Amino acid sequence: MAASPHADVRVLFTAEEIAARVADLANAIAAEALERPLVVSVLKGGFVYTADLVRALDRTGVATEITFLALSSYGKSTESSGTITVKHDIDADVDGRDIILIEDLLDTGRTVAFALDLLHDRGARRVVTTAIVDKPGHRTVEIVADHVGFVAPDVFVVGYGIDMAERYRGLPFIGHVADQAD
Ligand code: IMP
Ligand code: MG
Repeated sequence: MAASPHADVRVLFTAEEIAARVADLANAIAAEALERPLVVSVLKGGFVYTADLVRALDRTGVATEITFLALSSYGKSTESSGTITVKHDIDADVDGRDIILIEDLLDTGRTVAFALDLLHDRGARRVVTTAIVDKPGHRTVEIVADHVGFVAPDVFVVGYGIDMAERYRGLPFIGHVADQAD
């Protein structure tokens, strides 16, 4: 067997745990009984969770439409810059729509707060938020995601779409870099 290319990453949540949790999250989101839900997936980090969640939702009988929103807050640093900009806007009209807002990770809460304001300003009827990882110890904005996959301690996490300076997005599990000073 090939050596793991990620021996420096400590596993927090395994691929199996994530798969089981995503199925649960899909059931919980399906129970929200959203009307013709439009998924707004926040890039880049949300792409893996989005791919799994829309298929899990489909298995529960919930069909989705999907659009992507690219926001930047961190750049290549591991510290929040505090300023959020739209790098790539959604290509859908959200006026009157029910939205599932998918984020990779909720940290300070600024990114989700920004996306929620944007969607509500544009007339979204309902926005249900979900993040695969929540780090509640680091909030600067009062935001609670409606559906959270895993609560993580205040360490820098990677994998399952989540990066550190563009690395580790392809990891099938969620972990943290062992020698990273958190
Ligand atoms: P927030 O705006 O502070 O809630 O941060 C949200 C974004 O910051 C996430 O979507 C990530 O892209 C990035 N981020 C925050 N914490 C981490 C982390 O521990 N690992 C990787 N990215 C993170
Ligand atoms: Mg990032």
